[in-house]
Amino acid sequence: MPRIVLLNGSPSTRSSTEALLIHVADDLRMHGYNTTLMNLRSLPAEALLLARTDQPQLAAALTEVQAADALVVGTPVYQASYSGLLKTFCDVLPVGVLRGVPVLPLLTGGSDGHILALDHGLKPLLSTLGATSIAAGRFINSAHISAGAGVISPGAAAEVSGATAGFLTELDRHLTAPVRVPVG
Ligand SMILES: Cc1cc2nc3c(=O)[nH]c(=O)nc-3n(C[C@H](O)[C@H](O)[C@H](O)COP(=O)(O)O)c2cc1C
Repeated sequence: MPRIVLLNGSPSTRSSTEALLIHVADDLRMHGYNTTLMNLRSLPAEALLLARTDQPQLAAALTEVQAADALVVGTPVYQASYSGLLKTFCDVLPVGVLRGVPVLPLLTGGSDGHILALDHGLKPLLSTLGATSIAAGRFINSAHISAGAGVISPGAAAEVSGATAGFLTELDRHLTAPVRVPVG
């Protein structure tokens, strides 16, 4: 069964982004996909910052991402962009790792004024990792998420399920695409 890895780039233990990703993971499992939620805050900080990719926990995380059929990348908006935690992890991923891998970008933030962090921050980051199939994604204001209770508002749930539907359409197309055999 195809596996989707969901990355949470928040350093917070009571994370709105994590609550949102858990909601998305539940939805993806209902559509028949395996899911793995990876909280990047659980990775050893020194290995991440010093790019020690042979550190066992970090190596295992990198292998898991490389083996994924698709990714959901969630991050809080920090200073009008993605979190530093997400960036440190992306910095140790191999070049071109997301080529041909459908990706759904999701942001949570406190100010709707920073909605452009999706198109001007997170999507370009994913593109530099080789992503060619980036779903529309969403910015969800954290006022619509109760991190402690793990509840998101009906409006936010509708928003994010619209994004998930587009992502799954692309993933299905990707998984059923005929393998091209080079001629000659
Ligand atoms: C250090 C820091 C910087 C932040 N910067 C912004 C910002 O520039 N724009 C914004 O909309 N929200 C900003 N926020 C609010 C968070 O993006 C928002 O609360 C988010 O949902 C937190 O997600 P989390 O609970 O998963 O960490 C910031 C929060 C922190 C702690």
